[in-house]
Amino acid sequence: MLKRQKIQQVTRPVTVKTTRASQPLETTSITQQTKKYKIRWMLPRDLASVLEIECQSFEFSWTKEDFADCLRRRNCVGMVATDHDRVVGFMIYELSKRRIELINFGVAPGCRRSGVGTQMTQKLIGKLARPGRTRITFPLRERNLEAQLFFRSLGFRAVSILHKFYENTEEDAYLMQYQVPPRWAKEVRSLTVNSMK
Ligand SMILES: CC(C)(COP(=O)(O)OP(=O)(O)OC[C@H]1O[C@@H](n2cnc3c(N)ncnc32)[C@H](O)[C@@H]1OP(=O)(O)O)[C@@H](O)C(=O)NCCC(=O)NCCS
Repeated sequence: MLKRQKIQQVTRPVTVKTTRASQPLETTSITQQTKKYKIRWMLPRDLASVLEIECQSFEFSWTKEDFADCLRRRNCVGMVATDHDRVVGFMIYELSKRRIELINFGVAPGCRRSGVGTQMTQKLIGKLARPGRTRITFPLRERNLEAQLFFRSLGFRAVSILHKFYENTEEDAYLMQYQVPPRWAKEVRSLTVNSMK
């Protein structure tokens, strides 16, 4: 299980002390993957399953109230992946004009390495199609190697180190980022301009 920051820390403004240039972006082949799971908005009835996945995934897990507080915030969105109506993954993110902040994300331990996380992240990347919204960011624990490998496989990069980011540990965080490939951003822009003509 992984150590978590509390909800207010996840979204607090961060001071970036060390900057590392983003690596060249890959155009991943995630769009070519088979869509095996159903992805839909999170509903109140999903909360029990989401809480179970949360507790199985993180040492300092969110409570029911943390989820409720977060989802009450403007622009905060909850998404779940289901397999035959069983919730197998959840994701919470916040949409803003220029970027998406990934706030919480977990896949049921028994369903990992079967593409659930990829399919959900692919869906999130799809939200970048809006003109001007070009990146996804979030802090990721330096010891969470599994998630680092996962996000790396999808084209995310660590762009800076957030020193002493967490309250309960000395551990640092990486500021992870996915940036829309320039070619894609150009295509979205031209589609929007053409559709307005
Ligand atoms: C990170 C997480 C969401 C990944 O979800 P997942 O459904 O297992 O991911 P996928 O099956 O789509 O994996 C896609 C690729 O990512 C990489 N990957 C995923 N988990 C990995 C691991 N444990 N070790 C190495 N590579 C891994 C692999 O390249 C994998 O492809 P492959 O299985 O064909 O080798 C899941 O491990 C999880 O819930 N972890 C605990 C919570 C967490 O850390 N959340 C993220 C921080 S907010």
